[in-house]
Amino acid sequence: MSPRVLVTGAAGQIGAELVPLLRSKYGRDNVVAGLHRAPGNPALKDGPSVTLDVGDPSALTQVVDSHGIDTIYHLAALLSATGEKNPQLAWQVNMDGLRNVLEVSRSKKLSGVFWPSSIAVYGPDAPRAMAPQAAPLNPTTMYGVTKVSGELLCNYYFLKYGLDVRILRYPGLISSEALPGGGTTDYAVEIFYEALKRRAYTCFLREDTVLPMMYMPDALDGTVKLMEADAGRVPRHMGYNLAAISFSAGEIAAEIKKHISDFHVDYAPESTERRF
Ligand SMILES: NC(=O)c1ccc[n+]([C@@H]2O[C@H](COP(=O)([O-])OP(=O)(O)OC[C@H]3O[C@@H](n4cnc5c(N)ncnc54)[C@H](O)[C@@H]3O)[C@@H](O)[C@H]2O)c1
Repeated sequence: MSPRVLVTGAAGQIGAELVPLLRSKYGRDNVVAGLHRAPGNPALKDGPSVTLDVGDPSALTQVVDSHGIDTIYHLAALLSATGEKNPQLAWQVNMDGLRNVLEVSRSKKLSGVFWPSSIAVYGPDAPRAMAPQAAPLNPTTMYGVTKVSGELLCNYYFLKYGLDVRILRYPGLISSEALPGGGTTDYAVEIFYEALKRRAYTCFLREDTVLPMMYMPDALDGTVKLMEADAGRVPRHMGYNLAAISFSAGEIAAEIKKHISDFHVDYAPESTERRF
């Protein structure tokens, strides 16, 4: 039988592609798009949607009950740059929202929860390349703090209540359906739009800054495979690293220049505003 899925934060960069993918797999009526604000992304209009603030536990419970939800993909969050502008709000949305999702999942005995963590769990003391899963997790941004705390909280719900919550640490995701929501790796999407629109881009990273990235369809494929795996094959509930490719801002600019020869990039690195 198909799962009955709720996707929170469905109008964002990931939700805009995850919701159609899940609908194509499980049936359009089995996947409810949770939108922070109506009307949301047109790509989500072909199935059920609800307006949902994850900070409101009773609204969350009501959606789970009225749609017979058994699985939640919890994407609603504030990302790194947005979070650094208002760290108190980032804690509130990211941590209270996650706790509300975990609570309703526990109390309604849902079969599974997916929650995305991030490479932002790593701080300045992490190994620069191939950071192992259990490297020191000492982030210095509020976003990173909420990702480490969130991983711990999810693991707690697994240990204490047996809630099957599964986590991937995504790298920066490159996609074309929805613009990214305010993270450090956003430049790798913005640069394509600006190359086509203006033939110019001002990059907020240094030319030689290398970050891990992944193409959205690959990340979603990994996500669905993780969620469909037998429970016995998923012993870890604190985040699996998911890796694809790493490149510098200068390298991606050079690739685009091969196709748009008059494309020009300036580098104006920001200090600590944006981190993953
Ligand atoms: N996109 C990436 O490269 C990336 C990388 C690593 C991890 N992640 C994680 O994946 C998840 C989704 O990321 P995204 O890129 O789609 O983000 P996004 O910013 O594009 O989308 C997040 C969505 O959450 C919604 N939202 C904000 N506050 C809300 C609230 N109180 N209630 C309900 N919805 C609310 C926003 O309106 C937005 O539509 C986040 O947890 C993010 O940390 C993303």
